[in-house]
Amino acid sequence: MQTYTGSILVAVNPYQLLPIYTPDQIRLYTNKKIGEMPPHIFAIADNCYFNMQRNSKDQCCIISGESGAGKTESTKLILQFLAAISVSTHVSDTVCGTSCIRPDIGAVIDALSAFGNAKTIRNDNSSRFGKYIDIHFNKKGAIEGAKIEQYLLEKSRVCRQVKKY
Ligand SMILES: Nc1ncnc2c1ncn2[C@@H]1O[C@H](COP(=O)(O)OP(=O)(O)O)[C@@H](O)[C@H]1O
Ligand SMILES: [Mg+2]
Repeated sequence: MQTYTGSILVAVNPYQLLPIYTPDQIRLYTNKKIGEMPPHIFAIADNCYFNMQRNSKDQCCIISGESGAGKTESTKLILQFLAAISVSTHVSDTVCGTSCIRPDIGAVIDALSAFGNAKTIRNDNSSRFGKYIDIHFNKKGAIEGAKIEQYLLEKSRVCRQVKKY
């Protein structure tokens, strides 16, 4: 089998909150060519989304790096971008309002992290399992659902509540 890779983003964990993940930034990076704007995780997510729509082909983002590099945070940022553009391009704000259900897969990751993450020397919130996240879009490009498969879970972390006497 042969394949090409798309763009590669090299990201360094800033270890501080930068004002570069705002809704304004999402708008700035939506439907742009790679290189049109400065390198950003949103540019990768945008490229994936519009390649999927243009070519009707599944897209895949591989996020790799050593522990503490920022993989989990980058995953959530990609999901945040995809959720935002798939809602904004298909549901107008007047229809959506505050009652609209917006897909928040990032929140699911946080819930899983509560069970599967632990503090290590390298990372206070170290994922002790890997995740494969499948996001399903409909023909119009709106998110319809997602499936998270976990693997490499450290078996020693599987525990249960202590019996109460
Ligand atoms: N883009 C970012 N902006 C700000 N802080 C970040 C960013 N990426 C990571 N961090 C910080 O670094 C910590 C470790 O990142 P994390 O994504 O958990 O690493 P990994 O999953 O690669 O082990 C996070 O808890 C967060 O405090
Ligand atoms: Mg992690």
